[in-house]
Amino acid sequence: MKSRFQRTLLQFAVTCLAASAGSFAHAQDKVKVGLMLPFTGTYAALGTAIENGFRLYVDEQGGKLAGREIEFFKVDDESDPAKAPENANRLVKRDAVDVLVGTVHSGVAMGMAKVAKDSDTLLIVPNAGADAITGPLCAPNIFRSSFSNWQPAYAMGVVAADRQKHKTAVTVTWKYAAGDESVRGFKEGFESKGGKVLRELNVPFPNVEFQALLTEIASLKPDAVYVFFAGGGAVKFVRDYAAAGLKNTIPLYGPGFLTDGTLEAQGEAANGLLTTLHYADGLDNAKDKAFRAAYSAKHTIQPDVYAVQGYDAAQLLAAGLQAANGDIKNRDAVVKGMASAQIMSPRGEFSMSKAHNPVQDFYLREVKNGQNQLVNVAIENLEDPARGCRM
Ligand code: PHB
Repeated sequence: MKSRFQRTLLQFAVTCLAASAGSFAHAQDKVKVGLMLPFTGTYAALGTAIENGFRLYVDEQGGKLAGREIEFFKVDDESDPAKAPENANRLVKRDAVDVLVGTVHSGVAMGMAKVAKDSDTLLIVPNAGADAITGPLCAPNIFRSSFSNWQPAYAMGVVAADRQKHKTAVTVTWKYAAGDESVRGFKEGFESKGGKVLRELNVPFPNVEFQALLTEIASLKPDAVYVFFAGGGAVKFVRDYAAAGLKNTIPLYGPGFLTDGTLEAQGEAANGLLTTLHYADGLDNAKDKAFRAAYSAKHTIQPDVYAVQGYDAAQLLAAGLQAANGDIKNRDAVVKGMASAQIMSPRGEFSMSKAHNPVQDFYLREVKNGQNQLVNVAIENLEDPARGCRM
């Protein structure tokens, strides 16, 4: 017969053992990250840069975020919106990921946001600018480490009118959410400062047959042309624009996607182009210098804006995990940690808006010597208006 004291002691020992076994199991649980990115097609290089950036941050933390090992699951989304629900569900249902990270293409990202909402999965968007994601589709579990399509476009509209003194412009884009929203943002900035958009031209995504458009631009003779293209399409457009002899007569502008990660392939044709973006070459901050050194040591090329956004997606997840003491299932704490994070980004420090979109500086850059060199800060701390977000 054990005494009451002995029984209490035994119970205490059993409780301690169970608790330490529990926290041991908890510490051993990996956080499952589902990377849904384009690894083929016109945006393939962008997807790879995002993955490289994300992994670089995790590697710098010894493969763990807030003490939790990270396990990756990957899907090539092919920048195909029709396949987005199936691809996202494969990660959520089959692989049971804790967090979805993706993607580049706005149409695909909107499909991911729907899956994230329906399944209540944490989602971090490391590029796609679809305004709706931090607008009507905004939700506590949805974050973006990049930009809204409105942001760099609006900044360029203001620069084109105010600094460059242009009165008229023609816009050209791929016909899908990102292009349409980019044109709308440019128009808002440009026309608020007295400019006028004469014509909005477009081609289907990811078409790169630009000759008919270039002929039309030449006959419209605007003061300026604003375009949204990225990746392989941006390389082709910039080369075709110069080859058509337009570059020296009608200045070409765009959000920085036009010249980020593309300059080597664009060569001479890109020289002198002015673009606006939340990243630039030659930023004077220690974080960027360290990031560039680490990235180029691993990948033999310099990082671009996509690599930065991937790196910061990992930083954002780390902030959430730290706030939850590593417990990814503690959603409230994770969300609070992410929403209030001050991210020390290579782009400069930024915070999250109420709609979970970065509030950040937009730089004016000029292509010189194969780089997007910083000219000045076009608009400081620019916050997306988050139209339609109720949160
Ligand atoms: C988008 O679809 O939102 C998108 C794609 C490529 C970019 C920027 C935005 O470089």
